[in-house]
Amino acid sequence: MGELPPGSEELVLAFLAEAADDFVSGEAISGKLGLSRAAVWKHVEALRRQGYGIEAVPARGYRLASIPDRLGALEIGPLLNTHDLGQVLHCAEELPSTNDRARELAEEGALHGEVVVAESQTAGRGRRGRAWSSPPGKNLHLSAILRPDLPPQRAPELTLVASVAACEACRKAGVEAGIKWPNDLLVRGRKVAGILTELSAELDQIHWVVVGIGVNLNAGPDDLPPELRDVATSIAVERGQPVPRALFAAALLAEMEHWLDRHAAEGFEPIREAWRERSVTLGREVRMDGEAGETTGIAEDIDASGALLVRTRAGIVRVVSGDVRLVARVDPAGG
Ligand code: BTN
Repeated sequence: MGELPPGSEELVLAFLAEAADDFVSGEAISGKLGLSRAAVWKHVEALRRQGYGIEAVPARGYRLASIPDRLGALEIGPLLNTHDLGQVLHCAEELPSTNDRARELAEEGALHGEVVVAESQTAGRGRRGRAWSSPPGKNLHLSAILRPDLPPQRAPELTLVASVAACEACRKAGVEAGIKWPNDLLVRGRKVAGILTELSAELDQIHWVVVGIGVNLNAGPDDLPPELRDVATSIAVERGQPVPRALFAAALLAEMEHWLDRHAAEGFEPIREAWRERSVTLGREVRMDGEAGETTGIAEDIDASGALLVRTRAGIVRVVSGDVRLVARVDPAGG
């Protein structure tokens, strides 16, 4: 038998993925993709060798029963339900930082929606110069290149768009995630995901925005550096079950696109509302570092640009950047 058409293995996989839990007949696949039945079988065998669980039942056809726990284009691509985000995927085993790679690609002319994913990062970056722990094969490290039609002053809104989207993806994976201002995702008070947004712009024009999202998916306590064990967690730890990572990545990209589309069509107001509904900061006492030292107050709202409004003794303080710490609640019934 001659060479199989290039890319047809991905097409067979995409066809099976689209059918979800249903069987598809070999005849339907070969008819739709213009392949012989023998070629379909060869592809199924090749996919099995790569770790895909594909059931074959006479008179019913094939069913995709399981996918390997890898974050490659072959795993994420067929699960994508987006028009732009992730349609071009750059997947790597190891990178210094997906944000750094995405910035390079953006400078080289990458299109809106191109996404970089890495199984591990050797120099993963968090906000405010912190490191982001990125052990291989456990979590999700993803950076999306965006070219939004927005004035540069409105770019910070995109971080809140991403935090709402990431919060939704975590909730759909079965954990009660909430957003701590500006964009940390917490579950039971511990950090499960973080977002690092970077941009290149001129005075009146954004060239590109890179939204980097790190989600602790399957890391166990032993995978975290000791100093993070009390303050971080993962979705698997919280829900007591591992997360299929490619499925999570595809779901996150679908949420991102949904909220980006809303932002483009309706502006910041629906995002602000969605952010408020998911916030674990509003209504809480917070502590922040300022020029005059530490201040505490009650976080009341975010304004139309995403800044946090905190009521202090001296009046309302508008916090535009940095971090705030949630002051621990005193349980009146506690000992
Ligand atoms: C934070 O909470 O401090 C932000 C963490 C952002 C981490 C992600 S992981 C993917 C992307 N690449 C990086 O180097 N950082 C972001």
